[in-house]
Amino acid sequence: MGHLLDDAQIAAFDRDGVLAIEGFVGPDALAELRQRADDIVDAWEPTAAATVFTTEDQQRRSNDEFLSSGGRIWCFLEEGAVDAEGHLTRDKSLAVNKIGHAQHDLDDVFERFSYTDDLTGVASDIGLSDAVALQSMYIFKQPGIGGEVSCHQDATFLYTDPLSVTGFWFAVEDATLDNGCLWTAPGRHRDPLRRQFRRRGDNDDGTEFVDLDPTPLPAAPDDLVPLEVPAGTLVVLDGRLPHWSDVNRSPRSRHAYTLHCISAAADYPDWNWLQRGDDMPLRRLDRSDR
Ligand code: FE2
Repeated sequence: MGHLLDDAQIAAFDRDGVLAIEGFVGPDALAELRQRADDIVDAWEPTAAATVFTTEDQQRRSNDEFLSSGGRIWCFLEEGAVDAEGHLTRDKSLAVNKIGHAQHDLDDVFERFSYTDDLTGVASDIGLSDAVALQSMYIFKQPGIGGEVSCHQDATFLYTDPLSVTGFWFAVEDATLDNGCLWTAPGRHRDPLRRQFRRRGDNDDGTEFVDLDPTPLPAAPDDLVPLEVPAGTLVVLDGRLPHWSDVNRSPRSRHAYTLHCISAAADYPDWNWLQRGDDMPLRRLDRSDR
């Protein structure tokens, strides 16, 4: 028996590389987080060349805003919300793909939501007892245009040696087949890591994928299983577990918040795309460093 999880849950995570915990977050905390996300977008002024976020195209589109967002709070736009001249085709509240990537350290509401005893307990139960919080994203999955996230392993984008990245994915709204829920390949977290997403040389040189292993990723959606969950669910994802989500073609949004943690003891190479300044060290999930 762990701190937060029972033996069956711990065994299921070990077997599948994914675990959904319904009712992990209460409605008040979800509402507060959602309101703060709306406020951040409200206060944000899109620039002429605001950053469109797509996983398909991140190599080509990597730019200063993306590469410096590891230590900031930034809004990234949906591809389907920008015309050929780069102008928004809808209100910004319905155009933002996500907010990232350091609101867990820079915003008090996100900080309170992220650094909790309950989440520390879950992390510890699955073997991440020295978790530090690396990256946060508030994902909107906007109605009608919320973009596909191609099948990937999180350790491609947040690499440590040894591998340690773990995703904590909170459903702020119900996630269903219609609005683009997560799909995963249970058990395939034992597969090798396929590739790394690296900064090239200096920061001005953009990024590239480096292939590590030729094993194909599971095909979406045929080789994947949908994970429909109600609001308030925490989904824990092993960093090597392939996962995917479809375009949201429904008239309903699918808000989610993710926090990615790594082991404080693991090496975090400086070629990872996400870097933070020396003035902003990563902090322990259990707050033992405060
Ligand atoms: Fe992911």
